[in-house]
Amino acid sequence: MSGLALILLALVGAGVAHAEDGYALWLRYRPVGQTWDARYTAAATQLVPAGGSATITAATSELNRGLRGMLGAVPGQAASVSRDGAILYGTPANSRVIAALDLPLKGLGNDGFVIRSVRVNGHRATVIAANSDVGVLYGVFRFLERMETREPLAGVDVRDAPKLKLRMLNHWDNLDRHVERGYAGLSLWDWFTLPEWKAPRYTDYARANASIGINGTVLNNVNANPDILRPRFLKKVAALADVFRPYGIHVYLSANFGAPVAIGGLKTADPLDPKVQAWWKAKADEIYRLIPDFGGFLVKANSEGQPGPQDYHRTHAQGANMLAAALKPHGGIVIWRAFVYSAQNSEDRAKQAYSEFKPLDGKFADNVMVQVKNGPIDFQPREPFHPLFGAMPHTPLMMEVEITKEYLGFNTHLAYLGTMWAEVLDTDTWQHGQGTTVARVLEDGKGTGLTGMAGVSNIGNDRDWTGSEFDQANWYAFGRLAWNPQGSAEAIARDWTKMTWGENPQMVDAIVGMMMESREAVVNYMTPLGLAHQMATGHHHGPGPWVHNLSRPEWNPVYYNRADANGIGFDRSATGSDAIAQYAPHVAALFGSLNTVPDKDLLWFHHVPWTYRMRSGQTLWDSLIDHYDKGVATVAQMQRTWALLKPYIDKQRFDEETAFMEIQHHDALWWRNASIAYFQSLSKLPLPAGHAEPPHDLRYYEAIKTPYAPGQAE
Ligand code: GCU
Repeated sequence: MSGLALILLALVGAGVAHAEDGYALWLRYRPVGQTWDARYTAAATQLVPAGGSATITAATSELNRGLRGMLGAVPGQAASVSRDGAILYGTPANSRVIAALDLPLKGLGNDGFVIRSVRVNGHRATVIAANSDVGVLYGVFRFLERMETREPLAGVDVRDAPKLKLRMLNHWDNLDRHVERGYAGLSLWDWFTLPEWKAPRYTDYARANASIGINGTVLNNVNANPDILRPRFLKKVAALADVFRPYGIHVYLSANFGAPVAIGGLKTADPLDPKVQAWWKAKADEIYRLIPDFGGFLVKANSEGQPGPQDYHRTHAQGANMLAAALKPHGGIVIWRAFVYSAQNSEDRAKQAYSEFKPLDGKFADNVMVQVKNGPIDFQPREPFHPLFGAMPHTPLMMEVEITKEYLGFNTHLAYLGTMWAEVLDTDTWQHGQGTTVARVLEDGKGTGLTGMAGVSNIGNDRDWTGSEFDQANWYAFGRLAWNPQGSAEAIARDWTKMTWGENPQMVDAIVGMMMESREAVVNYMTPLGLAHQMATGHHHGPGPWVHNLSRPEWNPVYYNRADANGIGFDRSATGSDAIAQYAPHVAALFGSLNTVPDKDLLWFHHVPWTYRMRSGQTLWDSLIDHYDKGVATVAQMQRTWALLKPYIDKQRFDEETAFMEIQHHDALWWRNASIAYFQSLSKLPLPAGHAEPPHDLRYYEAIKTPYAPGQAE
């Protein structure tokens, strides 16, 4: 090989010739640069792991990877601290030195950790300690994150623990690798080559999750194919569980309630039938033989066509408890979804989950959690919080959010969802007096110790995992908020930005600024002022406010906007569906009165005339138009900001986001024009001065089709 070829190869090996493609996520570990090099190097001269578990080995390998990337060299490993700058990590149980440091580990549970500057054997050292090896791993990731975000290591004193026990991803992945509502390629799980081939990417998935504290993953779609429970697939599931175990991640499966009939040869799936109970018990035993730390089942029952206990005139609690009994001897849990609404029921869809589940409070076994979507309908760009939060004092509730942007423009619209989730988490339910925020409700395990948050994954096999760089931020933010539901969306965006794009302060400020207003922009151009579910049929991408012909009333956007010649909005006040009555009296009064309802929720709770005077003095019509235009203008502003960042950002990632923002701007205009054209056909009002008429008539927008959109439900 020629000298030149060798040099080229070396360059490629060092990553110099590689464009950044997003694969590394926020774990890029780029060189820290002159300002930090000497300081960090002095604090990372030696690795001293305690114990040799697979988890500690994973921690060591992450430290090696991170330090090599950031400082250019890997420190030596030693059995005890023998020089200044050592990093000592482990549990008191595995290290007498750590035990002797008498660190404040009490109350940190399994997953919490302490990172502290200490002196050991007369040397300066950093200790990363926890009560379990997984806690140590979390501490190691936090240590590396401090370096990635350029926090000092000298004098470090961090003590942290997650506020929720279960921090889970829900993959809506089918066995043929199609991902329902997925916009990042195919499922990561290559069922065809498992269990023999454990692709290295599975380990990188586990690393990324562990770095943000995610400790559970449901591998398959809630619209569950019963085949996942067949022995052939369980072996594949076990192989993934083996890869994830060192990273503290437990595997769960979505279970189809009809499985005893579909694959078990039984005539019924009635939860009170002893044969059915025995079938699930045997199935659970079989799973635990393969996967001793299996987490449990997630169940979507009697919802959108899925089988469930009501098929046999049993309640959700009877169904959940039957599965819970099968899992109980193994320590597994059932996560039962409250996302139910019925075609037969004419009650306001926003009320149905509460009506169904509230009477069941106290009837669930102690290893059952009820998983409630953040809002009462279905992951809209904005919804008020779900009335079940705080309303089931005897049932541990888990909140489910959608990380994948089914209703927020797929992967090509920049929408940082940290703000959306923080908004709901910070909302006061008033269910047990002032200060009963949704976050507090989630943090209360009702004595069972079961607390949690689940995010519908946006991960696929695209090289950048999530279909765009900025969608990585939503995966990251989900993990951080599940760890601490009272965390700050802005602080999270800042950390992610530094790790993902670099440390230049002007660039960080500009990107965080864009992120912080991005979700509101989407709300404004899609569903302002409390509108919801105005998306076109099936794919949920473009606008379809006129759609009225779907088989079920509550699938039609007109069901939600209720727009007519007089006005717009869904009356959920006492004069309407009275959905407000499902909230605590203080909140019901707030939402129920036109004097106090926040503008952002106005049309969710009230039907008002087009000429209704807003608090601003504008008419509702003028305000609506303003919001659509503001949404489009915010995207245009984001484009200008992004263009200025070109000198700071590597070409491939810059170019991709530039293109995606063009798509977003085009789509925002489409949403704005189509929505205005439709609502104007009813209000017959002129646009306020300074706002352009839609360039086409309504029929033009109605005729736009989006065939082959990704991520459809099948
Ligand atoms: C949404 C989504 C479906 C999904 C459902 C659920 O309605 O469009 O694809 O199955 O939520 O959460 O179960």
